[in-house]
Amino acid sequence: MRIRAAVLEEFGQPLNVTDLDLAEPRGREVLVRLVACGVCHTDMYTASGVDPSGYAPTVLGHEGAGVVEAVGPDVRDVAVGDHVVTLFSPQCRECEHCRSPKTNICTAIREQQNLGFLPDGTTRLTRDGEPIRHFMGTSTFATHTVVPEIALAKVNPEAPLEAACLFACGLSTGIGAAMFTAQVEEGSTVVVFGAGMVGLGAVAGARLQKAERIVCIDLSEERLAMARHHGATDTWIGGDGTVERVLEETGGMGADYTFEATGLVGVMRQAVEAARMGWGLATMCGVAGKDETLDVVPRLLITGRRVCGSSFGGVKGRDQVPQLVDRYLAGEIDVDAFVSHRISLEQVNEGFDLMHRQDGVRSVIGFS
Ligand SMILES: NC(=O)c1ccc[n+]([C@@H]2O[C@H](COP(=O)([O-])OP(=O)(O)OC[C@H]3O[C@@H](n4cnc5c(N)ncnc54)[C@H](O)[C@@H]3O)[C@@H](O)[C@H]2O)c1
Ligand SMILES: [Zn+2]
Ligand SMILES: [Zn+2]
Repeated sequence: MRIRAAVLEEFGQPLNVTDLDLAEPRGREVLVRLVACGVCHTDMYTASGVDPSGYAPTVLGHEGAGVVEAVGPDVRDVAVGDHVVTLFSPQCRECEHCRSPKTNICTAIREQQNLGFLPDGTTRLTRDGEPIRHFMGTSTFATHTVVPEIALAKVNPEAPLEAACLFACGLSTGIGAAMFTAQVEEGSTVVVFGAGMVGLGAVAGARLQKAERIVCIDLSEERLAMARHHGATDTWIGGDGTVERVLEETGGMGADYTFEATGLVGVMRQAVEAARMGWGLATMCGVAGKDETLDVVPRLLITGRRVCGSSFGGVKGRDQVPQLVDRYLAGEIDVDAFVSHRISLEQVNEGFDLMHRQDGVRSVIGFS
C-alpha cells in the first residue's frame, strides 16, 4: 500500500515527508494505522547524526498509537480494530529476560531491530523498490506501519490515542522509573533532576507510589510549575549547590530515591551524591552523549548508595503499558497536560524546532 511518511534521508537535514510503499504484514507482524505520535528527543538525536548507531534512509518515530488494520497469518494476541501503543522496547514473554522479573529488556528481536530490520532481517518499507529501514522497530512518523505483534501493547479503546501515545516512550520511561525500576516506597523522600517529559513522569510515578516528599529540580520555572501540577511537593532551580541543599533539607542524609532525567553527566553525578547514605538509590534515565562517563566517588557506594539505570522505565510493555493507560483513564495521571502542541505529519520538522527551543513538553502528530 502507499503511505505517507517522514523520512530521514541525510543526517543533519530536515525530514522529507513523502510517499512510500508498505508491504503486507507477514508471520507475526501487524499493520497499524497511526492515529497519534509524539515527537521525542531520540528522533531528533538520530536525525542530527550524532548517534553513532544511527542509519539513513529510515522512517523515524517511535511514540505511536493507532488502530490495527490487518494482521499476519501467525498473529495470536491482537486483532483488527484493537487500539495499540507501539513498543520500541518489545515484550516477547518467552526470552530469558522476559521470564525474569528483574528486567524489561527483551532480547528476542533486538539485533535485527537495531539494524533497522523486522525480525526476519528484511524491511516492509520501500521506495521505487529500494528498501527503507525501520527505526527502533516502530517507524511511527507515518500514516501506517508494520511491526511485530510483540512490539504492540493493546490498550483500552476508551483512551484517546493522542494521550495514549505518550506511553510509548517518554511518559512510561519516567513513571516506570519510579514505579518499576526504583520501586519507590510509601513515605519516602524523592528528588527528580529534570522536568521534561521523563522527569515529570518520574514525579507522577513517585506520587502514585505515595512518596511523602517529592523535590523536582529544573532550570525553568515554567517546567517547575508543571512539576507541582503532577505532584512535586518542592521545586527548586538547579545549579551547583543542589547536592548541598538536598543534604541540608534531609538532616544531612540525602534522599531515599533520586532520578536523573536530563541526560547530563554532571547532573547524574549530583543525583548519586544526593542519594541517602545507607540505602539511597540513584536511577539514571537520561541518555548521555557518546564517550561521556559518569564520575562517582567509590566511597559513596561503600557507604550504601546504589546506582542503577532504567530503559523504558523498566516497563514490560505488553503487560504494563495497558495498566498505566488504565490509571490515566481512572484520573490518576493527567496525561493531557503533557500535550503542548498538536501538529500534522507535514509539520514534523516544526516539532523538532519546538523541542529544540524547549517550547512545551510534547508535540503530538495527529493523523487524520
Ligand atoms: N532511558 C530511556 O529509556 C529514555 C527514554 C526517553 C528519553 N530518555 C532520555 O531522558 C532524558 C530526558 O528526556 P526529556 O524528554 O524529559 O528531555 P527534556 O529536554 O524535555 O528535559 C530535560 C530537562 O532537564 C532540565 N535541565 C537541564 N539542565 C539541568 C540541571 N543542571 N539541573 C536540573 N535540570 C536541568 C531542562 O531544563 C529540561 O527541562 C534525555 O536524555 C532523553 O534522551 C531516556
Ligand atoms: Zn523516545
Ligand atoms: Zn523477550
